[in-house]
Amino acid sequence: MKKIVIIAGLVLVMLCLVASKYDSFLEMGDKTVKSAACNECHKTIYGDWSKDFHAKAYVNDPFKKASNAYSKQECLACHAAQEIAQENSLKLRPVHQDEGINCTTCHLRNNMIYGPYKLKASHKSEKDESLLKSEFCAGCHQPTYKEWQTSSPQKTCQECHMPRTEGKLVPVFPLSLATPKRMVGHHLQINEGLIKGAASLSGQKGADSIVITVTNTGTGHAMPTGKYGDYRMVLTTQITDAGGKEVFSKEEIFSTQKGTGVPFKKAMRYIYPLPAGAGKAYKAKATLVYQVSGRPDILAASWNAE
Ligand code: HEC
Ligand code: HEC
Ligand code: HEC
Ligand code: HEC
Ligand code: HEC
Repeated sequence: MKKIVIIAGLVLVMLCLVASKYDSFLEMGDKTVKSAACNECHKTIYGDWSKDFHAKAYVNDPFKKASNAYSKQECLACHAAQEIAQENSLKLRPVHQDEGINCTTCHLRNNMIYGPYKLKASHKSEKDESLLKSEFCAGCHQPTYKEWQTSSPQKTCQECHMPRTEGKLVPVFPLSLATPKRMVGHHLQINEGLIKGAASLSGQKGADSIVITVTNTGTGHAMPTGKYGDYRMVLTTQITDAGGKEVFSKEEIFSTQKGTGVPFKKAMRYIYPLPAGAGKAYKAKATLVYQVSGRPDILAASWNAE
């Protein structure tokens, strides 16, 4: 009997120690923990996030330059926010600013960790279904959110940018034994596959002109979208004669900085007269390339005709 009481007591003490150990995750302000603390258990999600642009929001070169090496105060809060808030209530996290938009920005508020489920976690947590709604992203992505709202949306931001697949929230032994498979949102929010689904590109080869049509079929907002960065989609049409010599080349640039993004579902049609030197057996080619300064180009779509 005595033994049982002692063991039960020890277990209780251990449980309390564990709980209080993870209570530090609920601290905010200059005691906010680093994302590395979450990586102890949420390895897959941490791995995806660390490759995501949210993780680089504060340290990337374009932001560093455009904010005059962090001297423009009005720019900083959104790029390393303490917590989710309306656009004009965002506050800069006083610590770990190099982590940009990190785990605690999106999951920690009111000294509580919020998730879409209602699970028994090692730390305290509460359910908040707003994580599954586009409004969750709106405070920081106001211009894109407005475009999305007016596009009679069928999918949320999360359904495209954080698609859910089956996996474990905690793939680390021994906790992995106690965590069944669940639906996990992908924390790498933009990737080549998504960009390749953004648009359709087609052409018609005529006797004296060619017609190129590009349609924003897959975004739910303008292509590209945003008001701060320099994001572009570049449509290049090229005509070569039978001998392979280029006789025509033209670029159309859709750019966030010029405000010329293609609205959702809109088709842009270009008619190019055939140059005299094209001959009868000319070849035509069109490509749509995703360009962000300082990153490798990504081919979003292409069209070819002999
Ligand atoms: C606390 C503010 C904040 C919240 C909340 C937020 N974002 Fe972002 N997001 C940013 C910032 C700042 C960047 C710019 C990152 C950079 O510097 O490249 C960004 C970048 C992105 C990008 C990539 C742009 C690029 O540079 O390629 C996508 C996609 C994106 N966010 C989607 C979302 C979605 C979807 C949500 C909601 C689930 C969301 N964001 C929530 C601030 C936020
Ligand atoms: C000691 C391991 C451990 C650490 C460290 C940890 N978590 Fe968790 N977390 C868990 C477990 C266990 C669950 C529940 C998993 C399950 O049942 O599938 C969970 C669940 C969650 C959920 C989902 C809650 C819900 O009900 O929807 C969120 C969000 C979360 N953790 C965020 C975080 C964040 C943010 C950090 C870092 C500050 C963190 N976790 C650190 C173990 C951990
Ligand atoms: C830009 C905001 C954002 C950031 C940064 C972010 N999360 Fe999430 N997280 C979300 C959203 C939104 C969901 C709900 C997605 C869903 O299930 O569709 C979510 C879901 C989760 C869940 C529950 C499983 C799931 O996918 O539903 C866990 C656990 C979690 N996040 C942990 C983390 C950890 C750990 C980090 C840091 C490495 C992190 N998150 C960074 C927005 C974010
Ligand atoms: C139907 C799928 C879909 C939905 C819904 C969607 N996006 Fe996107 N998003 C994309 C695709 C595809 C791209 C890449 C092509 C592009 O440039 O627009 C993208 C790109 C982005 C970018 C990077 C800038 C850019 O244009 O490359 C940001 C930021 C972004 N989305 C935020 C959001 C936010 C915030 C929401 C919700 C309000 C949202 N997205 C809803 C598919 C979607
Ligand atoms: C309300 C939130 C918010 C504020 C304030 C903000 N940004 Fe951003 N920033 C974003 C988001 C969201 C993105 C992602 C693309 C977009 O929507 O333009 C971004 C992207 C960027 C990028 C592109 C990063 C890359 O990877 O290429 C630069 C540069 C940038 N911001 C500079 C600034 C500067 C300079 C200021 C101050 C004048 C500022 N931002 C203020 C939210 C914000």
